[in-house]
Amino acid sequence: MNIILLGPPGAGKGTQARKLVDERGMIQLSTGDMLREAKTSGTDMGKKVAAIMDSGELVTDEIVIGLIEEKLKGENGGGFIFDGFPRTLAQADALAELLDKVGQSLECVIEMRVDDDELVRRITGRFTCGNCGEGYHDEMKIPAVEGTCDNCGAQDMKRRADDNEDSLRTRLMEYYKKTSPLIGYYYAKGKLKDVDGLAAIDEVAKSISDALA
Ligand code: AP5
Ligand code: ZN
Repeated sequence: MNIILLGPPGAGKGTQARKLVDERGMIQLSTGDMLREAKTSGTDMGKKVAAIMDSGELVTDEIVIGLIEEKLKGENGGGFIFDGFPRTLAQADALAELLDKVGQSLECVIEMRVDDDELVRRITGRFTCGNCGEGYHDEMKIPAVEGTCDNCGAQDMKRRADDNEDSLRTRLMEYYKKTSPLIGYYYAKGKLKDVDGLAAIDEVAKSISDALA
């Protein structure tokens, strides 16, 4: 089963994708993670996209479609979870074509609904362990020992360069302008299901599970 997690920055797409990977053996394809990896490894593409990502704007369709095309050639395990892709109508059309080419289809699009105040609160307080990826938050989830990961003991906490108020404003504008039209696009195809992303993480996971049943 191939699915899309659709929602604004901070809706919980990454959090729920990781749960689906653990519970169902699905494969998470996060274009944000792929682009950040390219940025830190200093590839030509990484250098090209760094400033765009930090400002909160979308990188070009051509780049992200190329990244996804590469991944679709690989093993699909329990199915792909598209996290943060597609983000424009052109990307959605490209995804349909690419899936068709590898003999796959898209079963479901989960729209995660969260209001803007909560998105701002989640994102501006977020930090992550650079070693194991465990997520933390200034108010909601503080490590037992300041600066030390509860999960792996590393002292390597990181904040994303685009998790500041200015970039977040741009990310939200990009979402409403370019990505939210996908809600109508997938509704018209009969693939859209929505979940309340404001609920607790495990409750959201349960709603997603119900939507996929
Ligand atoms: P990307 O990495 O995709 O970022 P994003 O969409 O802004 O999403 P986030 O990762 O910030 O949020 P999320 O929904 O995954 O939430 P999370 O689970 O982390 O993209 C970054 C940039 O890359 C873009 O701006 C663009 O430049 C570029 N890019 C990427 N894809 C692209 C594409 N297809 N086309 C063009 N450009 C592209 O949760 C957030 C926080 O909330 C965490 O602290 C978490 O612990 C907490 N949380 C989660 N769920 C809950 C809950 N239910 N209750 C309370 N807290 C919760
Ligand atoms: Zn850790």
